[in-house]
Amino acid sequence: MKVILLGPPGVGKGTQALRLRERFGVPHISTGDMLREHIARDSSLGREAKGFMDAGKLVPDELVIEMLAERVRRADCADGFLLDGFPRTAAQAEALEARPETAPSAVADIDLDDEAIVARLSGRLVHLPSGRVYHSEFAPPKTAGADDETGEPLTRRDDDKPEVIRRRLAVYRQQTRPLKERYRAAAQAGKLRYVECDGGQSPDEVTRRLTAGLEEA
Ligand code: AP5
Repeated sequence: MKVILLGPPGVGKGTQALRLRERFGVPHISTGDMLREHIARDSSLGREAKGFMDAGKLVPDELVIEMLAERVRRADCADGFLLDGFPRTAAQAEALEARPETAPSAVADIDLDDEAIVARLSGRLVHLPSGRVYHSEFAPPKTAGADDETGEPLTRRDDDKPEVIRRRLAVYRQQTRPLKERYRAAAQAGKLRYVECDGGQSPDEVTRRLTAGLEEA
């Protein structure tokens, strides 16, 4: 079960990954979360990545590919993984395919229009230590501003400002969306399963559809 969650920023990849992780028992690997952890502990990678992320640009391939390669070599990935936010470029996709242990078995492609994405990201609240995600309107926490499980404060991401969201969407269109064709062709050649889902449905419905599609994989 080596699954790529593909889709634009804010479509719900992280929300779904936390649910699918429970269902399939494989780790959720978010390159965005990993990079934010590097920034929080002020590592040299974090210092290099911060400027790109704050501007809504991609962090250079060589930095992200090395970080991901180190993560998927760990023992908890022996039975597979859910990749959230990787690959985002052709070079990243090639790096995954270069080793049989990391070549994807399925791609879950969630899509949504830009207007709905801006509404989602503008209201997003995050609990950074756990990766739990809320929305002020669509998925509010039980107590305003506090994580449901720990009671710790929720924050807004630095890159969820309107001008940065627009840049992230443009970068997605230019550099990541072309991967859809790559994976559709791979599915037609019988190399992996490609599951498409409309991200505009409720979180439960998206989970139901993705689970059904991936279980057949
Ligand atoms: P990253 O952290 O990966 O961000 P992203 O891909 O832009 O995706 P998001 O985390 O913003 O959204 P999501 O799809 O997970 O949505 P979520 O579930 O939170 O990357 C950040 C940056 O890091 C990049 O810009 C780049 O600089 C760098 N980076 C990361 N990976 C990289 C790579 N491989 N290469 C180079 N650079 C890289 O949901 C969003 C909101 O909607 C939430 O509030 C949620 O509650 C709500 N919501 C979710 N589902 C629904 C629903 N069905 N209905 C209503 N509301 C919903």
